[in-house]
Amino acid sequence: KKPIIIDTDPGIDDAVAIAIALFSEELDVKLLTTVSGNVSLDKVTNNLLKLLTFWNKRVPVAKGAKKPLLRQNEDASGVHGESGMDGYDFEAPDTSVLLEEHAVEAMRRTILASSEKITLVPIGPLTNIALLLSTYPEVKPHIEEIVLMGGSSIRGNYGVYSEFNIGFDPEAAKIVFESGVKIVMAGLDVGWKALVFHEDSLKIKAQNKTGEMIYSLFQKYRGGSLKTGLKMYDSCAIAYLLKKEMYETVYTHVSIETQGEYTAGTTLVDLKGYLKKEPNATVCLDINASMFSEWLLNALSKCN
Ligand code: BDR
Ligand code: CA
Repeated sequence: KKPIIIDTDPGIDDAVAIAIALFSEELDVKLLTTVSGNVSLDKVTNNLLKLLTFWNKRVPVAKGAKKPLLRQNEDASGVHGESGMDGYDFEAPDTSVLLEEHAVEAMRRTILASSEKITLVPIGPLTNIALLLSTYPEVKPHIEEIVLMGGSSIRGNYGVYSEFNIGFDPEAAKIVFESGVKIVMAGLDVGWKALVFHEDSLKIKAQNKTGEMIYSLFQKYRGGSLKTGLKMYDSCAIAYLLKKEMYETVYTHVSIETQGEYTAGTTLVDLKGYLKKEPNATVCLDINASMFSEWLLNALSKCN
């Protein structure tokens, strides 16, 4: 099993990604950390605990950054609902898996204690990961790679050219992309094609209790519509871990724009080598959409 740490801000599409990871036979989720993003840190942490309680999974959880490194929080409750995960009536969460430790400390400890290299899977803003890599650079050789959902080589969903997770905390993203750790970027190029339509949502619902819950969350998810397709952004990072064949990738240099008058948070994917910099990321440029749909349905069938 591949040991991973998921850093998340649930988030309806986060919930789907976490479900797949927790029930996958190939992944071992060592730790879950939360970061302010879609909604406040307290809300996303509560959402994560609700999910774990729903599945009766006892994976340790650590709370991380309350806000971006330099900027202020923005709110995505327009996409995920007031709670950040509207649409299902969860029972009160069991909080006993919540660690006292800060996410950054918990990540450091977990990474250094592991006999195998750990893969980090950030599916929210990169604040915690930037703090980890800059505070404790000694963890770097113990990280297999960072497979993140974020960025875009095309247009944005946060700004004209910026994607939410990067645009929310560009300074953190810059630290991560310049860290020297191997990076895989699954951004909007693939997220916009990783869709769930009405028919598949009914199949998901019929599969199991998790499917019923996810179907119910889908009714409140504004990341697209069941007619035009709901965007399963965060599952794109998990899909890379479990079925790379669905992606077309390029290994190139990605710079993070932090200063632009209109473009802060843009991931400049230098496909033509204009910047003459060494590659620092494997960027997912395309996805086989039908392979993704089939994979998603199958992956969710493994849940309770
Ligand atoms: C990203 O932003 C969030 O709203 C989603 O959960 C995903 O991580 C997509 O841009
Ligand atoms: Ca997310």
